[in-house]
Amino acid sequence: MKPAKKSIGVFDSGFGGLNTLRSIVKALPQYNYIYLGDSAQAPYGNRSPGEVYKFTRQAVDFLFRNNCELVVLACNTASSEALRKIQQEYLPKHYPGRRVLGVLIPAAELAAVKKHKRVGIMATTGTVKSGAFKRELTKLKRDIEVYQQGCPLLVPIVEAGKENTKQTKIVLQNYLHPLLKQNIDVLILGCTHYGILKKQINRLVGNKVKIISEADIVPKKLAEYLRRHKKIANKISLNRAVQFYSTGQINKFEKLGSKFFGKKIRAQKAILQ
Ligand code: DGL
Repeated sequence: MKPAKKSIGVFDSGFGGLNTLRSIVKALPQYNYIYLGDSAQAPYGNRSPGEVYKFTRQAVDFLFRNNCELVVLACNTASSEALRKIQQEYLPKHYPGRRVLGVLIPAAELAAVKKHKRVGIMATTGTVKSGAFKRELTKLKRDIEVYQQGCPLLVPIVEAGKENTKQTKIVLQNYLHPLLKQNIDVLILGCTHYGILKKQINRLVGNKVKIISEADIVPKKLAEYLRRHKKIANKISLNRAVQFYSTGQINKFEKLGSKFFGKKIRAQKAILQ
């Protein structure tokens, strides 16, 4: 019997993580990947921490049952509200030896460098409320000023494929205004969905503010992680296969997902339990 193929799992509440997966696959094309988007239950940002934990745990479980060796939570809301509990309580009990990684700390590390003094964060209401970015940034640099802006309308905009409309521009201007008023020198797009709006945000922010999008940093961090954890890296199959699952409508996921992933994708329905 052939050994089962092992993959790297990438999870988000919907389409945002596809942007992250796209750059991961570009940087590390040799591996097998499985993407899971929980569009049926998105947005996570307005849900309680208990719900976010439950959905994230179910998603991780789905990916592990489908032979993922390692899961990247390409979702800040899940990384801030569920990751620690999954790593400390769920994995040791149910999947010892497997790993789940988040995306929030790499973004905080890049923002908290010497030259940055005032950091703006755009994130979901849940991520803002969790205080996770502020906690991680101040751990790295005690005197850093952190200004957070919850942006609850942006995930529905991306999930509806409406990134390029006039209304979206107005919504973005309104969210950016309080941050720009604080003279921020760096802006973290603290939700993977917002990476899809990077161009539009860039146009409004200008080039004085550095924009940090997780799609630009996660691949490098993942490559470093795999170099440091050879035992895990060596288990992942090298067939360059990428599989997609969604809990939402499959035809919508394939259509919009192909746009965000930059290539035509075929998806299968996922049932989380
Ligand atoms: N893309 C996710 C994040 O990075 C989740 C957004 C949501 O579902 O509200 O936070």
